[in-house]
Amino acid sequence: MTDELSILGALTAKDGHVTAEALFTSHGWKRCGVGDWAVALRSPSGDLAVRISPFDPVATYTVRLFREAAGTGQVPVLHAHRELEGGAVLTVMEHLLPAEPDQAALFFRALAESTPEVASLAEVIARVLADAHEELPWCDRLDSNPANVMRRADGRLVLTDPFFADGKTLYGSLFTDASVVARIIPAARRRHMFELPLAESGPWDPVGLERMRASLAAADARLS
Ligand SMILES: Nc1ncnc2c1ncn2[C@@H]1O[C@H](COP(=O)(O)OP(=O)(O)O)[C@@H](O)[C@H]1O
Ligand SMILES: [Mg+2]
Repeated sequence: MTDELSILGALTAKDGHVTAEALFTSHGWKRCGVGDWAVALRSPSGDLAVRISPFDPVATYTVRLFREAAGTGQVPVLHAHRELEGGAVLTVMEHLLPAEPDQAALFFRALAESTPEVASLAEVIARVLADAHEELPWCDRLDSNPANVMRRADGRLVLTDPFFADGKTLYGSLFTDASVVARIIPAARRRHMFELPLAESGPWDPVGLERMRASLAAADARLS
């Protein structure tokens, strides 16, 4: 497993998400999941997973949660976190398995009620979410998509992807007032924001995509 992490030595901050995925693939890591924001690849030993996102404004908060809630055993063990070119990001975690959707729903209900089994986790989530919301107006609640609860081989449940840069609102705001995104997220941190995998929501329509790009470019030009 430690050996599998040595691959990170080949990555520099100038490498982007495409290069990163190609590098992992060339070392035998295989795609094992894809969401709206990120893809996941499993390591050859099966122990690790790398999550690679072209643009994930909540990634630093997710990493904070994984570190601050590590003692609960209810978040993935985090092995590495690297910022890539243009705001892309990768994390290497323990590999996890899908959980049953009804178990995932119960886990989210327990978190909402802060029941004793998840009270420590709920407390860390509330603390991190409060900071995230201060910086990112689109991030104000948990992403209760059941795919965000996974399980270890022994059945214990783990919260993998808790925070929500509410994509519809964030991207939707580009149609109405792109200056908010332009101001809050520096251009260098959102170079690949239109390259999301969008496996759950489906692709943007090309006309809307061009309008979003154009209004963001105009807002950037006004700001500079
Ligand atoms: N630690 C992990 N082990 C195995 N698969 C994972 C892991 N983390 C994420 N995945 C897979 O990758 C998918 C996308 O990851 P996720 O962090 O939920 O990104 P998104 O922000 O796109 O929803 C998940 O739905 C899951 O299938
Ligand atoms: Mg997810």
